[in-house]
Amino acid sequence: MANILVTGGAGYIGSHTCVELLNAGHSVVVFDNLSNSSEEALVRVQALTAKSLIFVEGDIRDANALDQVFAAHQIDAVIHFAGLKAVGESQQIPLVYFDNNIAGSISLVQAMQRANVFNLVFSSSATVYDEANISPLNEDMPTGMPSNNYGYTKLIVEQMLQKLAIADARWSIALLRYFNPVGAHKSGRIGEDPQGIPNNLMPYVTQVAVGRREKLSIFGQDYDTVDGTGVRDYIHVVDLANAHLCALNNRLEAAGCRAWNIGTGNGSSVLEVKNTFEQVNGVAVAFEFAPRREGDVATSFADNARAIAELGWKPQYTLEDMLADSWNWQKQNPEGYKK
Ligand code: NAD
Ligand code: UFG
Repeated sequence: MANILVTGGAGYIGSHTCVELLNAGHSVVVFDNLSNSSEEALVRVQALTAKSLIFVEGDIRDANALDQVFAAHQIDAVIHFAGLKAVGESQQIPLVYFDNNIAGSISLVQAMQRANVFNLVFSSSATVYDEANISPLNEDMPTGMPSNNYGYTKLIVEQMLQKLAIADARWSIALLRYFNPVGAHKSGRIGEDPQGIPNNLMPYVTQVAVGRREKLSIFGQDYDTVDGTGVRDYIHVVDLANAHLCALNNRLEAAGCRAWNIGTGNGSSVLEVKNTFEQVNGVAVAFEFAPRREGDVATSFADNARAIAELGWKPQYTLEDMLADSWNWQKQNPEGYKK
């Protein structure tokens, strides 16, 4: 069993990954500045698993704080979730994104190197692929220039980590390219709790269903897809969390830097998601059609064969499971962690 440092561990994907790590018997140190999360998530992670973790409140751009964590705990590997992720905001305050996501990642790997820790799993995104690629997207397809600054930070960090692993064979780095994480832990005790107006489809749908928002705007109805609405590869956050454990095992045994897509391999349209949500949960989701959102592609879904073959990972949850679990979380926590 390993001692894992989880940056951004109080966040949506991080908290679900902490549950799986603790259940698998690993020791967990969470390092998070709580800029987009609540410590309550970690209280619940510990209650759910009946295991404790160590929480250190700190910023990945703070070298001293990181050095203290590595000095105090014998860390074997790092899972790096910490960063900012709002696409629209990244267009308005690019420097804040470059600083948190790029400078923050540099600061983290520098601290790892000082501490002689060379195993890293990095949260990347399907947004790094060139938009000209036709889905299913596989890891050998070319990356492009993401249309937004958030995506740009993911691409830069990926490239930086690839170059680092070439220059120094001690590094072993997994780049996990997430497709669209949704869902929540079965218990409904932890889930996605976006601040302000949600940018993403799933939390918007659940907030309409719970009465916090009036109606969903469906961005575009004239895409070249099954019903004209955008198609994405939704992946249950618990399946995604488990991919990190598989990647960790792989990286503790191999050197170099390698990318894996983490998606189900199935595309679902926005209308399909809305309609299935209504059917599975027996609640109505008011909606209207709105113009396309700038920067959106018609279709994006994964070829996940590499992750299945090399990581021994396999997604377990259906779209119905994802939508039921998202709703279970939202209806139990209408205001998120604020109660
Ligand atoms: P999240 O905002 O819920 O979690 C990120 C966590 O990092 C938060 O707890 C936040 O407080 C913390 N954090 C931010 N900046 C920090 C800093 N400078 N120092 C320390 N902590 C900091 O987001 P999430 O959905 O859980 O995403 C986790 C990672 O996965 C992010 O890197 C994100 O970009 C990436 N990702 C997310 C998605 C998605 O759709 N959710 C898709 C692809 C990739
Ligand atoms: N959508 C709506 N209405 C909304 C929100 C979204 O119709 O209120 C549509 C979008 O147009 C898109 C689909 O729902 O067709 C999914 O949109 P999301 O915003 O949930 O997800 P994206 O695919 O745009 O973005 C996600 C992550 C990003 C990541 C990107 C990579 O949120 O972090 O995938 O493809 F960069």
